[in-house]
Order: sequence, then C-alpha cells, then structure tokens
Amino acid sequence: MGTNDPGMANPSCPLHPPVPRRRFVEFLLGGGILATFASFIYPVLRYFVPPPVAELGVDEVVATKVGELKPNSGMIFRFGSLPGLLILEADGTYRALSATCTHLGCTVQYRSDLREIWCPCHNGIYNLNGGNVSGPPPKPLTVFNVHVRGDEIFVSRNVEA
Ligand code: FES
Repeated sequence: MGTNDPGMANPSCPLHPPVPRRRFVEFLLGGGILATFASFIYPVLRYFVPPPVAELGVDEVVATKVGELKPNSGMIFRFGSLPGLLILEADGTYRALSATCTHLGCTVQYRSDLREIWCPCHNGIYNLNGGNVSGPPPKPLTVFNVHVRGDEIFVSRNVEA
C-alpha cells in the first residue's frame, strides 16, 4: 500500500495534513459531554417552562346530559381541541374548568375524596375555583360558564370583546 491510497493520509501532502488521533478523541469526548449535559438540562427546562396554551376553537359545547353525572363527581368532556372538566358538587352545583394542567399540560381530574382537582403528573393541586393550591402549576385553571338548558349541560367560555 503506497501513499496514493485515498484512505491513508499522506504526511508529506500540505493540502491534507493528518488529523492527530488525540484531537479526534477530544472531539468525540467533547461531543459526548455536551450531549449528556443537554439530556439533563432539557427536561429541567421543560419542567419549569410551561407550554404555550392552545386555542379552543369553539365558544360553547354540550358537555353532557343532566343526570349523567353523580353528585360529588367529575367527568372529562371535549371543549373544542382541549379537554374540559365538568364537576357536579354534592350540593348540585355544576363547575366547569379547563382540564389542561397549567404546568406541562397533563389532563387533571376531580378527586371526590379530597374535593379538589388533581394533576397526576407532578401532584399539582387546584381548588374547585381553579386556583393553583400546591405543586408546580404556575397559574390557575381557566374557569368556564355552565348553563343547563333542557336536559343538556352547556359549557361556554368568556369571549373577550
Ligand atoms: S403537568 Fe406537572 S403538575 Fe400537572
């Protein structure tokens, strides 16, 4: 094998100087350290920076029918492109809120034993007014309006003028 072999570096060629093995290993190690650092930092940043809020696409939906929900229970319904949470309290009061956690967007649920709204992803707690009580959620849940018309339960959002 001579120096004209394309796979071999020609130490005498000024246009193609040989790459020192040490620099190549340093390059690989540097890339590995950078990739490891990024794989630790990215989830931490995602934990602290909430995702942007998606648009619902509708102003009012029929969540369910009267009688479908037992007192002191909740259900998830579709409000446009996002989930909503409809709660029927023990005294017969309906409440509707966004079911998208303000932390990282998991779907929250009603905890009938604690009478509060709970996010299972990172143990975020909201009260029935949507207020963020404990855990990582940075903002309250959006509260919707509830109207019973006939045998249907309508949920609507406040539309800004
Ligand atoms: S997504 Fe983290 S607490 Fe809900």
